[in-house]
Amino acid sequence: MKKIIIANWKMGLTFKETQFLLEKISTFEAYRHFLIVCPDFLNLAQATQILKDTKIKTGGQNCSFHHHGAYTGEISALDIKAAGAEYVIIGHSERRRIFKEDNSMINQKIKIALEAKLKPILCLGESLLERKTGRTRPVLSSQLKNALKGIKIRKASDLLLAYEPVWAIGSGQPMESEEAERMHKYIAERAFALTGKRLAVIYGGSVKPDNAHDFIKQKNIAGLLVGGASLQAKSLKRLLNI
Ligand code: 13P
Repeated sequence: MKKIIIANWKMGLTFKETQFLLEKISTFEAYRHFLIVCPDFLNLAQATQILKDTKIKTGGQNCSFHHHGAYTGEISALDIKAAGAEYVIIGHSERRRIFKEDNSMINQKIKIALEAKLKPILCLGESLLERKTGRTRPVLSSQLKNALKGIKIRKASDLLLAYEPVWAIGSGQPMESEEAERMHKYIAERAFALTGKRLAVIYGGSVKPDNAHDFIKQKNIAGLLVGGASLQAKSLKRLLNI
C-alpha cells in the first residue's frame, strides 16, 4: 500500500548539498510511495521549482504564529504557500524543546497555516521521562487537544499527524513497531474524537531503510517522517521503495 514519506532535512545540509540532493531526487524514476521534501527556508522556493515536473511535494519546516508584520526573522505561512509548498511541519519536538514553542503558539500556527491553505504536519511525542512515568497517552492526548483547540478540519487530508517519540529522534533507538502501531491507533482515535475526521498518522524517530518496513507494514501507520536517513539520495530512494 502506498504510504507517505516525509523527508525533514532540518538544518542538516549546506545550501550546496541541498541543491545537489534536490537535483538527484528530481531524477528518481518510478517508486512506490508518496514523497514530501522539507528543506530549509532558503531552499524552499527553488526546491519547488526543481521538483515541479515530478510528483514530489514540498513543505516548510515551521511557520510563524503571526500573519504578517514587524517580526524580525519570522517566515509567514502565506509566503511558504507562495513559495510553492503544500505542507508545513508544526510543533516538531525540536521547536517545542529548543525554541520553547508552547501549545498556544502551536495552536495559532495550525490556524494560520490552514488559513494560508497549507496542510500542517502536526508533530506529537512524549519525552523519555514522560514515557518512564507512564504518562505517554495523557501527554499525547493533551498535545493533540491543545493544538487543535477551536480548529475545524474540513477534510481529513487537510491535516497530517506525526507521532515522534522524543527519545527516538536521532537516537538510533526507534520505538518497537508493534508498540508504535498501538500508539498510532490511539492517536487516530483521539483525533477522530476531536475532529470527526480519520486523519493519517505517520511515525518518526530513527527510521532507517533497514527498519522502515516494520513500520509501514502496520495498518495504522500511514507513513514515515524521516530525518537523518533522508539526507542521502541513496537511502531516500531505498525508503521510497520499501
Ligand atoms: P531522525 O530520523 O533523524 O531520528 O529524525 C526524526 C525526525 O525528527 C523527523 O522529523
